[in-house]
Amino acid sequence: MNKTLIVYGSTTGNTESVADDIAKILEKNGRSVEIVSAADVSVDGMANGYETLFLGSSTWGDDEIELQDDFVPLFDDLDKAGLQGKKVAVFGCGDSSYEFFCGAVDAIEEKAESLGAIILGDTLKIDGDPESDEVTAWTESILEKL
Ligand SMILES: Cc1cc2nc3c(=O)[nH]c(=O)nc-3n(C[C@H](O)[C@H](O)[C@H](O)COP(=O)(O)O)c2cc1C
Repeated sequence: MNKTLIVYGSTTGNTESVADDIAKILEKNGRSVEIVSAADVSVDGMANGYETLFLGSSTWGDDEIELQDDFVPLFDDLDKAGLQGKKVAVFGCGDSSYEFFCGAVDAIEEKAESLGAIILGDTLKIDGDPESDEVTAWTESILEKL
């Protein structure tokens, strides 16, 4: 089994473009990839049939961490996704001028780990506009762990 699912939540398109770049790099490396917006995914058994998942969300809110709107229901019911024993990498866009820079990324990583996922490497936290070099370097570092 060599299938990867990328699920992203993105309001202005930044995290979506990162997800697209990740998908291209994974496919170039021979992996079978499905990519879906958090708005269009059903959390029940979401991880079934996949070896690896990339979960991405931008961060909103001011004095508290808010996940991107579409990712909220997914996060709330993440225990239904079947993440136990799955390899998971987490990414997202944010802005370091906020108190909780990419707080959604930390929250997703923490919750996935608590549900028994195997977290792959460091998370990817993008400050400002995504740069493809940064995304490529990170994705290649994750590929080394697969
Ligand atoms: C009202 C507002 C609140 C935000 N809060 C945070 C925050 O708490 N932490 C953070 O890292 N970025 C924060 N951001 C920045 C966004 O996460 C950033 O613009 C990101 O690139 C959006 O990604 P998306 O297009 O994938 O949704 C905030 C932006 C706005 C407009």
